[in-house]
Amino acid sequence: MVENFQVAIDGPASAGKSTIAKILATDLKYVYVDTGAMYRAITLATKLAGLAYEDEEQITALLPKTTIRFEPGSPVQRVFLNDEEVTDDIRSTEVTNNVSLIASYAAVRENLVKRQRDIANSQNVIMDGRDIGTTVLPHAQVKIFLVASVSERAERRYKENLSKGMPSDLNELKKDIEARDYKDSHRQISPLVQAEDAILVDTTGLSITKVVSEITKIIKNKQHQ
Ligand code: DC
Repeated sequence: MVENFQVAIDGPASAGKSTIAKILATDLKYVYVDTGAMYRAITLATKLAGLAYEDEEQITALLPKTTIRFEPGSPVQRVFLNDEEVTDDIRSTEVTNNVSLIASYAAVRENLVKRQRDIANSQNVIMDGRDIGTTVLPHAQVKIFLVASVSERAERRYKENLSKGMPSDLNELKKDIEARDYKDSHRQISPLVQAEDAILVDTTGLSITKVVSEITKIIKNKQHQ
């Protein structure tokens, strides 16, 4: 058993994981770890190094030279790659479209899983991603599998983009989300799958407040067991 408290939140792209995890972490005073941002940072590092996304060997060689650090920020956590802030750059369309390939490389996963476990070993954490409950923190006290319909996820992304002044095509967003779901669920290593002991929370039609209160109840119940 782990002594510190670990909450794992997994689920497909745009299911609301990071929004919910961040609020929970603030409420509970836990450290929030956005593991998707780590895979995105390695994808950006690949681009900045001028490497092809297919060049698994060179990308593997890049890993030990790459640092990733988080700092609290609002509305999103700030992300630093080799001490340069990359909070916005890791959300670019190019990074988003290539991150699933980078995240399928065994060496990348091994390296990032180790970093994630190191962070979660010594403090209370809420970690979100795709394989947290199954691989990274198999002994997490609370595991949530957060889902929502493709239409609703595309609409959320659409509104989010608009709020950033970036209009987008709803149908394209749906296709991108479906493509990413497929790649993330069908890769060989640690595919996106609900852990046996994870609780399924479907956020379709639910407000953020409702989802947060539902998961808070689950966490509090566990803490008092
Ligand atoms: O949550 P996100 O959209 O920022 O994640 C970006 C990509 O990283 C996602 O397409 C799959 C990958 N990922 C992963 O393979 N394992 C994780 N624990 C987190 C993200």
